[in-house]
Amino acid sequence: MNILLLGSGGREHALAWALAQSPSVERLCAAPGNPGIAQNAELVDLNPGDHAAIVEFCTANSIDLVVVGPEAPLVDGLANVLRAANIATFGPDQAAAQLEGSKGFTKDLCERANIPTAGYVRTASLDAAKAALARFDPPYVLKADGLAAGKGVVIAADLEEAQAALEDMFGGQFGEAGAEVVIEEFMQGEEASFFALTDGTAILPFGSAQDHKQVGEGDVGPNTGGMGAYSPAPVLTDDLQARVMEEIIRPTVDTLRAEGMPYSGVLYAGLMLTEQGPKLIEYNCRFGDPECQVLMTRLQSDLAAIMMACARGELAGVDADFASDTALTVVMAAKGYPGTPEKGGAIDLGTAEEAGAKVFHAGTAMDKGAVDEGTLIANGGRVLNVTATGANVTQAQARAYEAVRQIDFPSGFYRSDIGWKEVAREGR
Ligand code: AMP
Ligand code: GLY
Repeated sequence: MNILLLGSGGREHALAWALAQSPSVERLCAAPGNPGIAQNAELVDLNPGDHAAIVEFCTANSIDLVVVGPEAPLVDGLANVLRAANIATFGPDQAAAQLEGSKGFTKDLCERANIPTAGYVRTASLDAAKAALARFDPPYVLKADGLAAGKGVVIAADLEEAQAALEDMFGGQFGEAGAEVVIEEFMQGEEASFFALTDGTAILPFGSAQDHKQVGEGDVGPNTGGMGAYSPAPVLTDDLQARVMEEIIRPTVDTLRAEGMPYSGVLYAGLMLTEQGPKLIEYNCRFGDPECQVLMTRLQSDLAAIMMACARGELAGVDADFASDTALTVVMAAKGYPGTPEKGGAIDLGTAEEAGAKVFHAGTAMDKGAVDEGTLIANGGRVLNVTATGANVTQAQARAYEAVRQIDFPSGFYRSDIGWKEVAREGR
C-alpha cells in the first residue's frame, strides 16, 4: 500500500521508521517531515493545514492510507475531509477529536459514561469560575478548555494564585483556547499513560509508558512536551490495565459510538493512579511524543497493516506484539527550551547508533536546506530522541545515555535522570 504520513516531529520519525519496516508498504511519503523522516520516507511539499492540497496529492498518487501524527489537523477536521474523499485515514473525525480539543467535552463525557476522573466545573464566565473555586480545596487545577500546545494547565497553590490565573486565562493568555475553563479537583498519585487503538467498536490495547514532563532533573521546573519516556510502565500492572480498559477506554469508545461520533485512531489516556484506582486526567487523540518513540521501538507487528485495519473498521481480531524489553528515550533539547530555543546549533551524531541505539529526529534541519547535503542543525525545542532497549528500565537507561554521550551537540541539553523512579524501584 501507499501511505502519506503527516507531521514533522520525533513521533513521526518513529512512525516513519516503523512503517518503513512494514512488509505491506510499497511507497511511504511524508509531509512536512524532517531529515530523520527523510531516511525512511519520501518527503513531499504539503502543509498539513491545507486539506484540499492533501486530498489532491492522495488522489494523484494513489495513496491508500493517511496517517495523521499531530492533533491540530484532526481537531481541525482533516480526517472528515479525507474520509469524504474515500481515503482511509488513521485518526479521528473532528467530533471525536474533541476528546483532546476540548477538556470540557471530555469531562462531560466522563460524567455521562461514569468514567473515573477528577470532579470538575466547566464555565465560560470569569465570575462563575472565581465563585466555583470555593467548591474546591487547594491546590487548584485550572485548565483552558481548548488546544494550548500542552501549556493550558495551571496548578495554583492558593486562592490568590488561582484567581490571578483565571484572570489571565479569560484575559486571552491562551487565546481562544481559554474562552472557557475547567476547574478540577486535584488528584494525588503517580501518572502513567495507556494507549489503545480503536475503529469505533473493537479496541486493541497498544502499550503503556511513563514520561517526564518537567524540564529539570528530579521532575522540577516548567512543563515541556516531555523530556524522556519509557515503555512499558511497570506501575501499570496487568490488573490495572484491565481496569483501565474496562472502566475508562471501553465506556469512552461505546459512548462516543452510541452518540454518533465513533472514534477511529489511537486513544492516548493520561492516567492518575490514585488510591481509589486509575482515574483519567485527559485524553489525547494521537500518539504521545516521545511516548510513540518507545512504543514503536518495542512494536514487533506490521504497523501499516494494523493502522489500515483500524482505518477500515476491521480491527476486531487484530493483535499487536510488543517486545517484552523496555525501551527508554532521552530527549536532547536546544538550550532555552521550553522557552525560546536556540536554533541553528550544529549536531554531530557520531557513533550514537553503533551499539544498537536509535536516534529519532524531532526539531532538526540541514543547514543548506536540502536533506542530502550540509550538516545537521537544531531547528526546534526538542531536537533528538535517543532511544535504547534493555531487559529493564535500568539497563535501557544505561544504554540510552551511552549513546547520548556519543553525540556532539554543544547548544543542546538533556536530563540525565530519565526513568529515575523506576530505576529506584528496580534497585530495591
Ligand atoms: P494535562 O495537560 O491535562 O495532562 O495536564 C498537565 C499536567 O497537569 C498533568 O500531566 C498532571 O501532572 C497535572 N494535572 C492535570 N490535571 C490534574 C488533576 N486533576 N490533579 C492533579 N494533577 C493534574
Ligand atoms: N508527551 C506528552 C504528549 O505527547 O502529550
